[in-house]
Amino acid sequence: MSRKPIIAGNWKMNLLQEEGKELFNGIKTFAKNFSESQLPTIVVAPTFLSIPAVASCKHNCGCGCEKVAIAAQNCHWKSSGAYTGEVSVEMVKDAGCEYVIIGHSERRQYFSETDEMINLKAKAILAGGLIPIICCGETLEQREAGITDEHISSQIKAALDGISSEDVAKSVIAYEPIWAIGTGKTCDADEANRVIGMIRNVVKEVSGSEAAASIRILYGGSVKPSTIEEQMSKSDIDGALVGGASLAAESFNEIISNTMKVSV
Ligand code: 13P
Repeated sequence: MSRKPIIAGNWKMNLLQEEGKELFNGIKTFAKNFSESQLPTIVVAPTFLSIPAVASCKHNCGCGCEKVAIAAQNCHWKSSGAYTGEVSVEMVKDAGCEYVIIGHSERRQYFSETDEMINLKAKAILAGGLIPIICCGETLEQREAGITDEHISSQIKAALDGISSEDVAKSVIAYEPIWAIGTGKTCDADEANRVIGMIRNVVKEVSGSEAAASIRILYGGSVKPSTIEEQMSKSDIDGALVGGASLAAESFNEIISNTMKVSV
């Protein structure tokens, strides 16, 4: 089965509204030159506050905006109520999002997100008709202790617990080794492919072979225009979740065009 690649940009806590709009314009203008079938699925994840600015152009006006999907970087699992500072699935959907990133290591580390919360979020996102991008990854200490696979397998099993195979099939997982995030140290492509293959086996075990064959699993961690071709040439890597290099249209667009050289 061939899986359509995804190139997703996680803007993290960067860019003011106008800057986000400008970056989005640079990406959509590039995407406009290609048909949907030539392009990978392109996703950008602005801050909550920049989502409306970026989404204001999503009217199928033919400017290329329809080729760039929007993700939120987080959401709450409850639909409404007294949860100061939080944003629901319905709210991010209403603002124009089709995807939500959950379980990013920065949220696990700095905001104490647990596997249980990530599972609740994944269920709420799918119930709301959006697609979760579920992040997982090991620390350097875990890698050095030889418990990478065990750790990631338990993160994935917890995140997918109680989710139907059909919903798992349309979800996205991002394998982001923590030691490779923002460090310039990319995980060796063969090793990233091995871990992603292992994740696919875990999905097969919990959700069956159809879901395992359909789910798209991305690599994230210091992805650059110069690394993406080798990464995309590997059997199990279905795309990239890009941080730093997604903050400039030039480098993000180059990642997209290099992806198109190898797959799509
Ligand atoms: P960098 O590409 O900056 O390493 O960030 C990766 C990441 O955390 C994407 O979610």
